[in-house]
Amino acid sequence: MREPHATMPSLDQLRQQLTAIGQEHVLAFWPTLNQAHKGALLAQLASIDLAQVPAWVSTYVLGKPAPSAAGAIEPAACYALTGPWDRAKYKAVGTHLIQRGKVAAFTVAGGQGTRLGSDAPKGCYPAGAVSNRPLFACLADWIIAAQRRYCPPEVTIPWYIMTSPINHEPTVRFFREHTFFGLREGDIMFFPQGVLPSFDLATGKLLLDQPHQLAVNPDGHGGSLKALASSGALADMHRRGVEQLSYTQIDNPLVRVIDPTFIGLHAAAPDSSGQMSSKMVPKAGPDEKVGVLCRVGGPHGPTTQVIEYSDMPAALSQARDGQGGLRFNAGSIAIHVISTKFIGTLAGPQGSGAARGSDAGGGGGAVGSAGFGLPLHRAEKKVPYVDLATGKRVEPDKANAVKLEMFVFDALPLCERSIVLETDRLEEFAPIKNASGADSPQTCRQIQTQRAARWLVTAGLGAAVPRDPAGEPACTLELPPTTALEPDDLRGRTVTIVPGGRVVL
Ligand code: UD1
Repeated sequence: MREPHATMPSLDQLRQQLTAIGQEHVLAFWPTLNQAHKGALLAQLASIDLAQVPAWVSTYVLGKPAPSAAGAIEPAACYALTGPWDRAKYKAVGTHLIQRGKVAAFTVAGGQGTRLGSDAPKGCYPAGAVSNRPLFACLADWIIAAQRRYCPPEVTIPWYIMTSPINHEPTVRFFREHTFFGLREGDIMFFPQGVLPSFDLATGKLLLDQPHQLAVNPDGHGGSLKALASSGALADMHRRGVEQLSYTQIDNPLVRVIDPTFIGLHAAAPDSSGQMSSKMVPKAGPDEKVGVLCRVGGPHGPTTQVIEYSDMPAALSQARDGQGGLRFNAGSIAIHVISTKFIGTLAGPQGSGAARGSDAGGGGGAVGSAGFGLPLHRAEKKVPYVDLATGKRVEPDKANAVKLEMFVFDALPLCERSIVLETDRLEEFAPIKNASGADSPQTCRQIQTQRAARWLVTAGLGAAVPRDPAGEPACTLELPPTTALEPDDLRGRTVTIVPGGRVVL
């Protein structure tokens, strides 16, 4: 979508433009619309980059572009969990940045809990293994704990939260109702991401959701980079002196929202340009539905990229290394550190640049790009639409539309040099995505319990954890970051857990 026009184009101008691109049907109901609806439709049409529509249709709707990884694909190199590298040195670098107010948290929360059977914003979903605290609260707790641990009293860690036009209001209301989960209201900024039009799968025509309204969909978490700039969030960061954004998704209550070691490594490792870095966990198996961090050959040499599971060639997903492990093992857990300078460079002079080579700027976006040099991805979905012949709204029972979206990890190959940090799955990856099975509330509770039990053992309190015959914890445990940010914080505590007990430590 384009930024709002200073001057709204007239109906005639829009009609001409729409006719030129074969999309004049969106004005089919014009004579029947009231003044307010006419105004709304004109404003919505003016906000869309209509000149791009034919390219989007031919490339992504009627065409199905092959996954973009054209060059040779190799596994990405990682900073391994067990070294050898100086963890303490980088933790100190990251801590120093946090202490000086150079780091902010950034959460993409544009999604709904649809796969979980909820219409509410995903961040409202109960996630605390015992307390049922919502996902938003789990992330807020980490920020509160990190502020207490790393920051002097005058420094706070601002939190930027990207919503979508669909869930913006309910998200802000939820925070108000919960008094911002103990954070200062002035340190949280909410902003909605942009949208892109949805297209008829067979014809590439723009769909109408209502006679006066196009069907649109959120533009993907890749839209966050543009929304950070257009919402004023980036300017707010510059005012506050924020240099690095700790990027996380909303679906993982164990996420280390602020991780000094990762931030320090990103900022100071010799092979990092300090632009955008990623965390990975070894994949649970060849078919796990996570993106894979790879090195992919390209015109300027190989770059670090995430290849989404659906785009990863099966032969590579299954390939084994010399020791029998998965050759492409680096599962992306969608955690990044991104510099504000890099985001500013991507914005470029016209807001659609692409940056390869630290802060060089320019270079032009990918073909059909909706901004910021990020390519679009297509997904076939069921989208309700107004039938032009009858004027009735149709709820399709099979995929009838193409939605386009951008992925934030497509900014990785625009970095000069990008590093990957391996982390321990049990320590920080317990996403809630599905109602049952993998990545469900149940697996999330199990992982939270296992992690808490592990921390108790490390802190010398292992005897407090009742175990079943298989040695698994025979209880449910929740260990909020406000109690412990690391196992050592538990040393010296007294803990009593009865078998079958449910305990918030
Ligand atoms: C995602 C990643 C996958 C990674 C996995 C780790 C994509 C395409 N894939 O999969 O590589 O291994 O997480 O858990 O992202 N969101 C928005 N606006 C949007 C769309 C999504 O804010 O328009 C947010 C959601 O609220 C959520 C996150 O992005 O926080 C992930 O989106 P989702 O579509 O659920 O991705 P996954 O399939 O979980």
